[in-house]
Amino acid sequence: MASLPIPLSTLPPAVAPGQPLTALAPMQDVTDLAFMRVMAHFGAPDYFFTEFFRVHSQSRLEKHILRSIDENTTGRPIFAQLIGEDLGHLQRTVEDLLHHNVAGIDLNLGCPAPKIYRKNVGGGLLREPARVAEILSMLRAAVPGLFTVKLRIGFEDTGHFDRLLDLMNEHRVDLLSVHGRTVKEMYRSEVHYDFIARAVARVRCPVLANGNVTSAVRAGEILRETRAAGVMIGRHAIRNPWIFRQCREHFAGRPLMRITLGDVRNYVERLYQATLSPDFPERAHVNKMKKYLNFVGQSVDSTGAFLHDMRRAQSEAELFAICDRHLLAEPQREFSPEPYPGIIARPNCETPAEADGCSLETISG
Ligand SMILES: Cc1cc2nc3c(=O)[nH]c(=O)nc-3n(C[C@H](O)[C@H](O)[C@H](O)COP(=O)(O)O)c2cc1C
Repeated sequence: MASLPIPLSTLPPAVAPGQPLTALAPMQDVTDLAFMRVMAHFGAPDYFFTEFFRVHSQSRLEKHILRSIDENTTGRPIFAQLIGEDLGHLQRTVEDLLHHNVAGIDLNLGCPAPKIYRKNVGGGLLREPARVAEILSMLRAAVPGLFTVKLRIGFEDTGHFDRLLDLMNEHRVDLLSVHGRTVKEMYRSEVHYDFIARAVARVRCPVLANGNVTSAVRAGEILRETRAAGVMIGRHAIRNPWIFRQCREHFAGRPLMRITLGDVRNYVERLYQATLSPDFPERAHVNKMKKYLNFVGQSVDSTGAFLHDMRRAQSEAELFAICDRHLLAEPQREFSPEPYPGIIARPNCETPAEADGCSLETISG
C-alpha cells in the first residue's frame, strides 16, 4: 500500500522568508488548477486554498478540486477546504484527503449563501459555538498535520466572536483566516478590520486578514492596522494577478512593478488558454471569461467602457477584438492599482434564492 504523504508540523515558509504571509482566498469555480497555475505564473501567493469540498452522507472528493491538489505544479503549498457539519463524514473526508499532497485541512466557517447556511454548514455554524466546538475537536484529532479555519466574524451580529476565537485556541488551530464581515453582510459592506485586530490579539496562531485587500499598498495598511501575520486576497487577485508579487515588493520597501494595459492583454490571453477545455463550447467559455473580466474591468478605465463592451461579446473573436480595442490602443497606459471608484463587477445580485454556494454567478466586488 502506498505510504501517506508526511504531514507538516509547522506552517511552510513564505516565498520571501520573514515577510508577512500572502494567500489566495478559496473561491468556488475560480481557484481551480488552471487559475492557480495562472496566478503562479504572474507571482504566486505563499499559500493556496482549494474551493470547498462539500461533505455530507453522499459526498465523495470532487475530482476537479482534487486535480488542483494532485497536479499542483505551482511550487506552493495548497490547503484543502471542507464545508460540512457531520462528524463522521468530515472524518472520512479528512482520511481520504490525507492520501493527497495537502499542506493542511481548512474548515469553512463563513459561506453566506442561504442554501448553504440553512443546512447549518459554512457561515450557518457561527450561530452555534457549541457545535463548532464539537467539529473543531473532532477535526483536530483527525488531522495529524496543519489544521486551519476560515471564519467570518459572526452570523447576524458579532456576539459569539470572542467565544469562537477561544475555541480556536482550545482546539489548537494552526492558522486562522478572518473575513471581517458577518454572514449577513455578504460581500459588499465595509470590512471590520477592528475585529480582525481583535482576533490577532486573542488567538495564539497566526491570522490572515481577509476582505477588500485591494492592492499591495492596502495590504501594508491593513497589516499595520490589524497586526495580522498576513493577508488573504480573493477578488482583487482575479482583477490583478500581479498582486502577490507586488505585496512582496511593497513589504521589502521596493518600488512596485507598474502594470500596463498591454500586460493585462497578456493575462487575458493566458487565462483564456489555461481555462480552455475540449468539452466546453466556445460560447460557454466566453461567458466564463466574462466573469473573470468583470473584476479586471474595474481597473481598465474610469468610465466602465471596457466592461460595457466586454459584456456584449458572443464569441472568442469578438471578445479578443474588444480586448484589443481597449487594452492595446494605449498598451503602455497604467492598469490602475486600485479599482476605479464606482465601477462594480456585475452581476450584482447577492442573494438569488437558487444560489447554493459562492460562485461568480452570485458574487461581485
Ligand atoms: C466567487 C467567489 C467564490 C468564493 N468561494 C469561497 C469558498 O469556496 N470558500 C471560502 O471560504 N470562501 C469563498 N469565498 C470568499 C472568499 O474566500 C473571500 O473570503 C471573500 O471574497 C472576501 O475576500 P476578497 O475581498 O479578497 O474577495 C468566495 C468568494 C468569491 C468572490
